[in-house]
Order: sequence, then C-alpha cells, then structure tokens
Amino acid sequence: MDNTRRQLLIKGSTLSGIAFLGGIPTLGMTQSLLDSKKSSPLLGFKAIPTSTQDSINIAEGYRANVLLSWGDKLFPYTAEFKADGSNTSSEQAQQYGDNNDGMSFFQLSENRGLLAINHEYPNQRYLFSHQNLMPQSLEDVLKSQSSIGISVVELVKKGQQWVPNIDSAYNRRITANTPTSIQGPARGHEKLKTDADPKGETVLGTLGNCSNGKTPWGTYLTCEENFDDMFGFSDKESAAINEEMALYGASQSGHYGWEKFDDRFQLNKNPNEFNRFGWIVEIDPMNPQSTPIKRTALGRFKHENVAIHISSTGHVVAYMGDDERGEHIYKFVSRDVYQENSPEKNRDLLNEGTLYVSKFEGSDKPEVGTGKWIPLVYGKNGLDENNGFHSQADVVILTRKAARIVGATTMDRPEWIAINPKNGTICCTLTNNSKRGSDKMPVNAANPRKKNQYGHIIRWQEANNDHTALNFTWDIYVMAGNPNVYPKGSPYAGSGNINKDNTFNSPDGLGFDDSGRIWIETDGKYSNKEDYLGQGNNMMLAGDPNTGEIKRFLTGPKSCEITGLTFSDDYRSMFINIQHPGENEDSTFPNNSLRPRSSLVQITKEDGGIIGT
Ligand code: FEO
Ligand code: CA
Ligand code: CA
Ligand code: CA
Repeated sequence: MDNTRRQLLIKGSTLSGIAFLGGIPTLGMTQSLLDSKKSSPLLGFKAIPTSTQDSINIAEGYRANVLLSWGDKLFPYTAEFKADGSNTSSEQAQQYGDNNDGMSFFQLSENRGLLAINHEYPNQRYLFSHQNLMPQSLEDVLKSQSSIGISVVELVKKGQQWVPNIDSAYNRRITANTPTSIQGPARGHEKLKTDADPKGETVLGTLGNCSNGKTPWGTYLTCEENFDDMFGFSDKESAAINEEMALYGASQSGHYGWEKFDDRFQLNKNPNEFNRFGWIVEIDPMNPQSTPIKRTALGRFKHENVAIHISSTGHVVAYMGDDERGEHIYKFVSRDVYQENSPEKNRDLLNEGTLYVSKFEGSDKPEVGTGKWIPLVYGKNGLDENNGFHSQADVVILTRKAARIVGATTMDRPEWIAINPKNGTICCTLTNNSKRGSDKMPVNAANPRKKNQYGHIIRWQEANNDHTALNFTWDIYVMAGNPNVYPKGSPYAGSGNINKDNTFNSPDGLGFDDSGRIWIETDGKYSNKEDYLGQGNNMMLAGDPNTGEIKRFLTGPKSCEITGLTFSDDYRSMFINIQHPGENEDSTFPNNSLRPRSSLVQITKEDGGIIGT
C-alpha cells in the first residue's frame, strides 16, 4: 500500500472495520500500527528469519511434528513404505498419497478426529524403482494414478499430540480410479459421455486435487485443478487440440505419460474424458462406502479451493478461484437454504443455484474500488445460441468461455479464498503473473503491477455484508515485494506492510482462525537470488487484517511448498502440509529420508496455547 493511501485510511472513520474513502467503503487498515514499533496483540509470537535449510523452522515456543509421509500405510494389512520405490500400484493405493495439499479436519470428539487430505499430482521423480521420469508400463501408470486423490485418516489425541490410527474403519483412499458420480446440470450431457460411460453419469476418479473446502453439513470438498496435465495424444500426428480443449490447457503430451499405456487419457481416442474433470467433488468422510460426487453447478475450471459461507438469508455461498494467469474469481449461491436441524436436507444443496463471475472496477484512488457479480446463466448476458450455448450444462462445462463473454476481470492467478470470521471480508491470494502487463493482458485496477512476480492478496466486502449481494467493494491487503532488491517506494518493494523482516513471494494457501488471524502460505520461487534475494525457502506467515502487520511463523525444507491449513476445534493444534520437498534440489526431508517425502505436519504450542498467540 502506498503511503498516500495509508494516510487516508488512517484518517478514515471506522464502521465494523470498514472505512469510507471518497464515497467508496474500503476495508482498510484503519488503526495502522505499521509505523509504530508495537506488535499486534493478535501476533504474540516472535517472528523468525528466512531459511535455506532442509528442515522446518518454527517460531520459538512452538513444535512441528510430522504425522504422515507419502507412502505410509493407512490400513493394518498394507505393505510398509519402501524407500527404493518398489511398492506396487495396489500397495500405493492403500498408502498415504503423494503431494499432500489442501485438507480439512473433522473433529469427532475431544480426542478423535478425521482428516480428509488432497494428494495433488504424482511426483514421478521419486515414485518408481527405475530412474525414468515417465512410466515404463501400465503398472507404473497405475502406481502414479494411485499416488493421487484423497486420503481420509482418523487421528487420535494422546496428550497434545494427534496420532494416525491405522486401525480406524474411517480410513479411506480415493484415487484416479475410484467411481465418482456426476450430479448437477452437466450430468448426462453429450460432452460427458464416453464409450465406458455412455450415460455420462459416472467418472473414474478425481484429478489435480489441489485445495479444498468444508461444508457446515460435514462433507469435504476437493477441487480439481491441473487435470489437463494428465491427458495427451497417443502420437503427435493425431494431436487435434480443439478450441474447447485449448481453453483448458490441453497439450500434445501429458506431463505424466499416462496416455502411453492408458487409453482413457488419450485425447484422440477419448476426447470427452477431458470434460469430466475440472469440477468440485463432494465427499462424505464419515462414510467410507459413500460415492464421491462431482458438483457441476459450481462450474468447470482449474479449481483452487472453495470457501463456504452461509449467508444471512440461509443460502450457501461458495467462493472459488481459477488458478491460471488471467483467469477469474467466481461465486455460487445455492437456490435452496441451509437447514441446520435437518442435515439430510443439505446433502444436495450444491446441485442447484446461480454461478457468478466477478468484475473488479477501479476508482480515482489506487488499489481501491468496487465490483460486481455477473450471473453465468444460460440465455443471459450473451450465453445463448449465438455463442454456442444451448443449456446451463453448456455454460458450466465451458465456464471459462462464459466468463470471457460476459467481460469478467482477468486476475493474477487466483489461488485460495478465505473469509474473515470477524467481519465477513473475503480475501484471495493472487499468487503471481509473469504475463501481466503484456499486450494480451494489460494491467487493471485490481491487478496493477506489471510482471507481478511477487503476487498480492486482494479482499472485498459484499454490499451490506450480504454474501448473496451482486455488488462489493475491494482493496488490497498486501502487495508482496522484496525490499532487499527494490528501494522503498518501488512497487516491487511491496506495500507498506512489507519489510526486510517479512518479505515473501507468491502467496497461495490462505486461511483465518477464529480469532481473526490471517495465515498465509507460500508457493513461490526459492532461488534466494536476484528478485528473490533473501527470501529463502517457502514459508508460512501470520497477519493481523486490521493493522496489516505480517510476521513470519514457519519456514519449510528445500524446494517445498507450504500448503494445507486446518485446525482442531480448540485452535490448539494446526495441521499443514509440506508439499514436494526436493522438487528441484536434493532434500532428505523428513528424517534423513532416502527419497524426500511430502508430509503432514501438526503444529502445537509448547505451553498448550492457541496457535499464533
Ligand atoms: Fe495447486 Fe494453484 O495450486
Ligand atoms: Ca501445490
Ligand atoms: Ca495452490
Ligand atoms: Ca501455487
């Protein structure tokens, strides 16, 4: 935030944390502590420095313990993890998956809880017993497909420590081959029919399970992001990437080589299989026999996460980002209302409702503005036959096309969205965008920085704090930057709440605890040189959304990303994930492992206190 704007905000009046500036209500940091040496009372811990070590470093008085790592057994009868990569595909399908990402904790009682955890993509550098990155057989492909999806695992609390219970009847693995039902407007549509599923009603598995959401009725939502990476053509001559495939990133060869041994992922043979991914999938973690359900009313794009809120009118509002350069922020509002006392009536709330895409507009002040939600409804706003839409199913299957037609604002890679429980403001990490400022993607009010290699966090408040509203006001909580490289005043040094002690790049994971602290996890460049000098490995920071202050809480091992963010109900245990340690450099995380392993981590305070205090 520039100084001029900060001064204005400091002078502004407050109303439930909302200030008014030139007629536009802003969400600003009205009682800024930024220029004082006082630390926010919300952030009781001592900030830590950056790190390039191959370990987790955490604030004094806190502990980080690994609970599960890729390949750990989830069932008593499962084979143990073999560090030489020789576990079979069926063994992997009963072990903890790779690349743990978003997750939610479901507390069952004081000492029992379930974690539902995403496994985003296969890490073939370390998956096989051979040294090839690409599968050499169908068995390799099956192992790769078994290393992704979702794990549900019961934890039991012993003292302060939660421990996985591999004997639990709740434990479950969902993989790229688990039967999954299609519900909502796209169910049975021509574009979802395949030879294996002529009705277009049941898909095998879920792909690219990046981040997640949790519903008040006790289900887990997993979000399909980079599903295009799993598809390719059997040979270059057959590559016929049509416009609809290109819109979702299809390429000649899949990143993981599955198409060489599994025809389902050959775009020339099974082009419609591609349309069966890119959805939000609802899972009942309490019933290991339940069938996961793709909720197509929420649109098809590269879903990052989903933040659920019950509006004052009782409607379910789902905020969602599409993580690709220049893609969009969406929300869905359910047709029916949530019924707290009749849980079974909430089961299909996500099947019917209105999908909206956002348009951010500027004002005469920088980094502040208004916005509106544009409905993506068949027959409205040009979403009709003239543009190739014949039904709401067409709209949700090609959500990205619909968003372009209605003139939605292109954003700098929307990652996680989180809602402040104290005042209802909604925050979204815009992780970075090397193409911002190019001819095809000019800067705009909400994405004002060319190249944007550091990313920012935007936030908005719905009109009258009604989450079903069609209008909102927005500002920017933080422009990340690097004051080690750029002088004060440069847009690349970051906003006023960035300094040499808390510099970071590429905010990704995001969440609030019930005290209103904002937790920021990074998935950025860890070269520690040039533009990223002095930023070290990826990290987690905590912020006070009222004052703007941000402090570094934890740093991760080499080449990892910090992701996943959930708490026990008392906020005295926090769970995070270390994803892809050793992605680009050697790592032995955790515990001098022969191959680096993505891992689930529990954080506690040594005195048993609330995390962040
Ligand atoms: Fe899987 Fe956009 O992170
Ligand atoms: Ca990730
Ligand atoms: Ca992410
Ligand atoms: Ca990311």
